[in-house]
Amino acid sequence: MDQIADFNEQDRDVIYRVIEARRDIRHFLPNQSVPKVVLERILHAAHNAPSVGLMQPWRFIRISDRDLRSKLRAEAEKERLKTADRLGARKEQFLKLKIEGIQDCAELLAMVIAPDDGTIVGRNTMPQEMAISSCACAIQNMWLAARVENIGLGWVSFYDQQKVAKLLKCPDNAYPLAILCLGPVLEFPPAPLMSITGWRDQKSFESVYYQNSYGEEPTKPVDC
Ligand SMILES: Cc1cc2nc3c(=O)[nH]c(=O)nc-3n(C[C@H](O)[C@H](O)[C@H](O)COP(=O)(O)O)c2cc1C
Repeated sequence: MDQIADFNEQDRDVIYRVIEARRDIRHFLPNQSVPKVVLERILHAAHNAPSVGLMQPWRFIRISDRDLRSKLRAEAEKERLKTADRLGARKEQFLKLKIEGIQDCAELLAMVIAPDDGTIVGRNTMPQEMAISSCACAIQNMWLAARVENIGLGWVSFYDQQKVAKLLKCPDNAYPLAILCLGPVLEFPPAPLMSITGWRDQKSFESVYYQNSYGEEPTKPVDC
């Protein structure tokens, strides 16, 4: 059988390296910028993502207004404190974690899920989940593209969706899914910050891989 050989072994190794080296970033170098051409490459990578029924529900808002940036930061801070209040004995530990880099990142973007365009194909049973999943694919593309540009990206989900929708003047039924911090960083941590800081351990691959039914341990090797 003919092999499709668009990529060589070196290309293959690079993409796995990028996937492994990608990190969620909250610590950014202040007073930096992202060259326009780099930002465009990253955003076009997002726009190349798969989407249910080719719905492409993502909309990107580049936040250039410093005052708006401060307001978004304030929303994240409110939610950080509300989250802390729900954590009982772990409240103080949580408060030591950094959960966003809105103030310092070079570029701030919001990804908004556009008002539903009525796409049916692929969305008969889980319409909202499929729109969200499509947007998440776009964000993952951005994450990987940013990493290969040696630019950090952090996904911020600490905010009240309605309040942020209002700040961004979103139309009815458009939902801000993510605030995205992008920019040069001092370092890419070697592992998730949540595990480095002792907040939570990473699961082993073996613990999430089943065969035939949920929870059933595979009897065959993974590469069968
Ligand atoms: C949907 C989603 C929302 C997230 N929201 C936040 C957030 O608000 N603040 C934060 O610090 N990290 C956020 N993260 C990053 C995760 O904490 C991070 O991906 C996880 O700890 C693994 O670390 P890594 O991405 O560096 O591998 C989010 C990640 C995802 C996928």
